[in-house]
Amino acid sequence: MRKRMIAGNWKMNKTYAEAVTLAQDLSVALKENPADSVDVVVCPPMVDLKGVAGVREFDNAPFEVGAQNVYWEASGAYTGETSCDMLTAVGATYCIIGHSERRGYFGETDEDINKKAKALMAAGIVPISCCGEPLEVREAGTHVEFVVDQIKKDTEGLEITDPSKYVIAYEPIWAIGTGKTATAEDAQEVCGAIRKTLVEIFGQETADGIRVLYGGSAKPENVAGFLDKEDVDGARVGGASLVADSFNAMIQKAAE
Ligand code: 13P
Repeated sequence: MRKRMIAGNWKMNKTYAEAVTLAQDLSVALKENPADSVDVVVCPPMVDLKGVAGVREFDNAPFEVGAQNVYWEASGAYTGETSCDMLTAVGATYCIIGHSERRGYFGETDEDINKKAKALMAAGIVPISCCGEPLEVREAGTHVEFVVDQIKKDTEGLEITDPSKYVIAYEPIWAIGTGKTATAEDAQEVCGAIRKTLVEIFGQETADGIRVLYGGSAKPENVAGFLDKEDVDGARVGGASLVADSFNAMIQKAAE
């Protein structure tokens, strides 16, 4: 049985003090209404990680902290980059890789994403690996093939011994920050195809343990419809994770 996950991606929002306040608000909300049946993850900007992880530690808050990016080398002359050990040292236990904004604006490739996944897993950090098609691919009707191809490339050569420690997020690009959501059926179609691909690659038992999340204009009003679907195990939340009340409302729906 896969444990549901609600993962917030704060993107490039929240200064240090704002991030700490949001983490504190979330901690209070989750203590008032515990949602133990759900894994909650927040992914603040790199410079806010330590502050948010500090709130988690100090409050014993029921959420995990994730980064939004990592570099696969252990150390060295890679100006501006952050290693796995650096993430671990500031309390990050998850890391987003391959977000469409990184693929689109910063040229991240499937090969990069694969290297990042391997480095993270070797370091004991859980990757949340993203996939998803642009609008023109959706309109051409080849979205399933497109995403399956990404999954095959992104997971190439991965050894998954604990399937709860590798997470996939399906985020159709046309639905991100646009207010345009995929229907629950759209999400199931692709998440189901992802699961089938995982069965082919890793076998049934491992594939059955890997969480596949939906992301793209997910909010309190629509999250339950996605979660009802067989192969959708949670949500990745951008805009609605920037306010504790709306993020908590989604967590509570997932706990129902
Ligand atoms: P929105 O929820 O703002 O559409 O963002 C989705 C996303 O990119 C999560 O990673």
